[in-house]
Amino acid sequence: MRKRLAAGNWKMNGTSGSLSELEALAAAHPAPSVEVLICLPATLIERASRRAEGSAIAIGGQDCHAAASGAHTGDIAATMLVDAGASAVIVGHSERRTDHAETSAHVAAKAIAAQSAGLTAIICIGETLQEREAGTTLSVLDDQLAGSLPDGADAGNTVIAYEPVWAIGTGLTPTIDQIDEVHRHLRARLAARGLADIAILYGGSVKGSNAAEIFAVEDVDGALVGGASLTAADFSPIVTALEAS
Ligand code: 13P
Repeated sequence: MRKRLAAGNWKMNGTSGSLSELEALAAAHPAPSVEVLICLPATLIERASRRAEGSAIAIGGQDCHAAASGAHTGDIAATMLVDAGASAVIVGHSERRTDHAETSAHVAAKAIAAQSAGLTAIICIGETLQEREAGTTLSVLDDQLAGSLPDGADAGNTVIAYEPVWAIGTGLTPTIDQIDEVHRHLRARLAARGLADIAILYGGSVKGSNAAEIFAVEDVDGALVGGASLTAADFSPIVTALEAS
């Protein structure tokens, strides 16, 4: 049985007043049949973890440094996220690959740090629009997956998120056939490494209105959601759709 996960990524959004959304989400899903995770700005993780205690909502970070500690101003170590109450962390999001010039080698090193600290590493990969239009989507994803997924990854410590860069925050989504093609391909690549049971999330403009058809794709095990994870009203229907799939 693969993990089924509805994950939110608040990105650089949210202050203490936003934490009531987590409580509303927890109240709407007291005993979900899928895992529910919200990845928060670092400033909110400890408070959110306290407020989510006893609920079914897990708390995660959005990035970690590859090193355990040291002279890295502004960065956060995986062990610090654990200390603040996180159980997972996103690594290799396309916004970090672009804004911070992170390579797949950096991402693999961060994933190792996360896994060593006891966090689930949510490793993101995805093609740009130019790459899709050039017909290189699957080879780009192969390179990113091979470069970002470290040895030692397993279904307990790793989740893959397929997030086409052009679908993030744009309201555009691939067709169901395109999602199916990519997820099937990624499953085969994971299977070739003996890792077929690692969950693969889809991310990019997931909403309550399109979640059910995306979750009906066999190799989609959940979603990584940006904008529609910011309020309980928007995220709750996505959790419900995953439970029903
Ligand atoms: P949106 O759901 O806002 O498109 O963002 C997706 C994403 O980047 C999640 O990590």
